[in-house]
Amino acid sequence: MMVCEYKPGLEGIPAAQSSISYVDGQKGILEYRGIRIEELAEKSTFLETAYLLIWGELPSQQELQAFEHEVRHHRRIKYRIRDMMKCFPESGHPMDALQASAAALGLFYSLRDLHNPAYIRDSVVRLIATIPTMVAAFQLMRKGNDPVRPRDDLDYSANFLYMLNEQEPDPLAARIFDICLILHVEHTMNASTFSARVTASTLTDPYAVVASAVGTLGGPLHGGANEEVIQMLEEIGSVENVRPYIEDCLQRKSKIMGFGHRVYKVKDPRATILQKLAEQLFEKFGYDKYYDIAQEMERVVEEKLGGKGIYPNVDFYSGLVYRKMGIPTDLFTPIFAIARVAGWLAHWKEQLAENRIFRPTQVYNGHHEVSYIPIDQR
Ligand code: SDX
Repeated sequence: MMVCEYKPGLEGIPAAQSSISYVDGQKGILEYRGIRIEELAEKSTFLETAYLLIWGELPSQQELQAFEHEVRHHRRIKYRIRDMMKCFPESGHPMDALQASAAALGLFYSLRDLHNPAYIRDSVVRLIATIPTMVAAFQLMRKGNDPVRPRDDLDYSANFLYMLNEQEPDPLAARIFDICLILHVEHTMNASTFSARVTASTLTDPYAVVASAVGTLGGPLHGGANEEVIQMLEEIGSVENVRPYIEDCLQRKSKIMGFGHRVYKVKDPRATILQKLAEQLFEKFGYDKYYDIAQEMERVVEEKLGGKGIYPNVDFYSGLVYRKMGIPTDLFTPIFAIARVAGWLAHWKEQLAENRIFRPTQVYNGHHEVSYIPIDQR
């Protein structure tokens, strides 16, 4: 009998062959389809990057215009989805609302024509276009307001911020938000992408694929960490409190949110870019004491845990950016999902192209030949 070595968290075990993105965790390099993240953050837009990831190459001007046009014209959600969302409790977490709404889309588009490129494109466009509308709609409806209709004259990120705040965003804020989406769109075989690929491998519909990935992203060890980072910074409250807070965490062996990564053993390149974006926002919209607290945290954590390769990850500085834009803390992870949906769909498409259902094995460590004990004898 073959004996397999069990690796907790499947560390180091390849789950797929993929040409979508690449991480060098020792050098702090992240590439999408071979292009460095720094270059995309500077020169690209979220929709162009999404196209690159999903269809494998940068679009021509015509291809990009067509894609943008299609996304723009699929932004509205059906009134029945809206009515369903109105019944969600205001106290519910927006990630749960998003997961339920993404799954509900599958009720309306139940044709499952997985080998038809037109079906794939249609689903990709619909999911990328409607996820932001659903996040914004839940935000307004839980405050008792009607959702705001998407605006066709605004680009992707500006329209989302408009739907959220009912006013046109500052152009710098809209561009920075778009860069944030580029930085979050894809990251090799992370937990939610793995979840998306496992679900995709059963040949179910893309709405179920995205819903399962949203559920996975929400946990505090994954995308949910960005929300917890802000709660932690608020709890710390001042630069002087940073060191005792971290020493206390280490003593209690509790994880410091926004730090550490399975793959990166240096600072996450996305954290470096997000830190600069936060600085740009503070320069324009005013200083924020939480930035100083964050920087002090980075210094103290490096001093204490740098030797273990624990540095800020993508979730550490993103919250500071969103907070400065006035976005409520519990929308940070849904915003991560708005971006990551394009990465999940790239993996869905790649999985379908050479599909085999995921069915790993296990190392059984239970009993054998156990006799059933009648209930009155237990
Ligand atoms: C994301 O995978 C991806 O690519 C994810 C992501 C993406 O784009 O999809 O990059 C997005 O999920 C970012 C991560 C967000 N999560 C957090 O910020 C939560 C805090 N971080 C950790 O819980 C942890 O670092 C993980 C979950 C990110 C990684 O977990 P691992 O690889 O299973 O590492 P581990 O928990 O086994 O820790 C290894 C060692 C331990 O020490 P020892 O027992 O070996 O002495 O490092 C220590 C840990 O205690 N450690 C930490 C720590 N992270 C790791 N100690 C204190 N604080 C931390 N944050």
